[in-house]
Amino acid sequence: MILTHAHWLTADGTFQEGSILVEQGRIRLEPGDPGPEPGPDVLDATGSLVLPGLVDPHVHLRQPGQSGKEGVANGSRAAAAGGITTLLDMPNDRPPTTTAARVAAKAAIFRQRCRVHWGLHVQASRRPVDVDPSIVASAKLYMARGSPAPAIRDPDGVEAVLRRWPRVTVHAEDEARFDPQRRPHDLARPREAVVAALATLESALRRIPEPRRPRLVLCHASTREEVAWVRRLKAEGFDLWGETCPHYLVFTADDAHRAGARLQVNPPIREPADREALLEAVSDGALDWIGTDHAPHRLAEKTGPNPPSGIAGAEWALPLLLRLRDRGILSWRRLVEVGCARAATCYGIAGRDGIREGAVADLVLVRPSRMPQSEPPVTRAGIHPYQDVPLDWQVQATVVGGVVVYRDGVFPEFQGELPGRRVIP
Ligand code: NCD
Ligand code: ZN
Repeated sequence: MILTHAHWLTADGTFQEGSILVEQGRIRLEPGDPGPEPGPDVLDATGSLVLPGLVDPHVHLRQPGQSGKEGVANGSRAAAAGGITTLLDMPNDRPPTTTAARVAAKAAIFRQRCRVHWGLHVQASRRPVDVDPSIVASAKLYMARGSPAPAIRDPDGVEAVLRRWPRVTVHAEDEARFDPQRRPHDLARPREAVVAALATLESALRRIPEPRRPRLVLCHASTREEVAWVRRLKAEGFDLWGETCPHYLVFTADDAHRAGARLQVNPPIREPADREALLEAVSDGALDWIGTDHAPHRLAEKTGPNPPSGIAGAEWALPLLLRLRDRGILSWRRLVEVGCARAATCYGIAGRDGIREGAVADLVLVRPSRMPQSEPPVTRAGIHPYQDVPLDWQVQATVVGGVVVYRDGVFPEFQGELPGRRVIP
């Protein structure tokens, strides 16, 4: 395929004009040449910006076991609509993805159903498991229960996980500090739980001799304490990476209290000062990327008496990043880092460091136009978490390895193999 009349963002944050040719799934740039006349396999990019596809290392597509909440086919469509071309799926499935057999069974589902590139996280458990670390993105350590498998929060348990796996992603809330009877949600899961989890992690890391320490990813940072912790440990040379999510950058606890279950999420959304610290960290690079933590639940569950936590975000991912760009939080160059390059580097996914010669042809066409939030969303979550937030960019088309997977609200059907490839290993 070829993108003609293209205006693309380069990895150094500048724009170039010309055409983008895709050869065997890879990018070839023709600066200055607008390309051929319209025809088959020609995508005219007049009036749009061409951006690199996003790498979202934190989604919950909920298959196997809970495809009624989303499922791989539908969730990967939502991702494509949000400009995500590579996703890494979390392991809190039913049953939880904790063994080699379960990783293999889950991979078979993704191979058949995932529209975009994909990889899998395994869930760390106390029992020794037979999973080869090289076939998963990371071992996810839940220090608060977020899965049918129990949490691991005690110092020895945490240390054992950090010793066992070369890459660990962590949900850093110590569930022993929860007070489930309290309301609202952010008091039931107070920030002290985060601070306690960080202390446990830090002392466990320090007990492990430096060459044997794992790479650690702090998932969904939501507090100023996490920002300070990441800054301090990075400055000391720890192999630590920090993620935050769009909802922590857009909303505050007051918004969450008003919205109720719609914005109920773990960890909870906190105070304006937390949001400020997170925005600053995303801007200056202390935090590495913005993952959506796409965590859909059914509308009936969310509006019921005991609503589950989780916000669906994949579908709004790139418009939300562009909103941060428009507000001066992200430069174009930072947008490439935060949107794809940093996560790709952390997880060892090649060819996702921005639009350049030879990179994987994962591309998104966007145009400046208000995103409509009145129609039903693609996600089975069925609600627009950002309904009151004006989003001034729309994804027009998403290209995965040179194949259009989304265009103007339509998802082409595929006979046989899907364009999404497994990226890890
Ligand atoms: C997660 C989910 O729904 O899978 N929810 C969330 O609010 N992030 C699980 C969890 O992390 O508690
Ligand atoms: Zn999550």
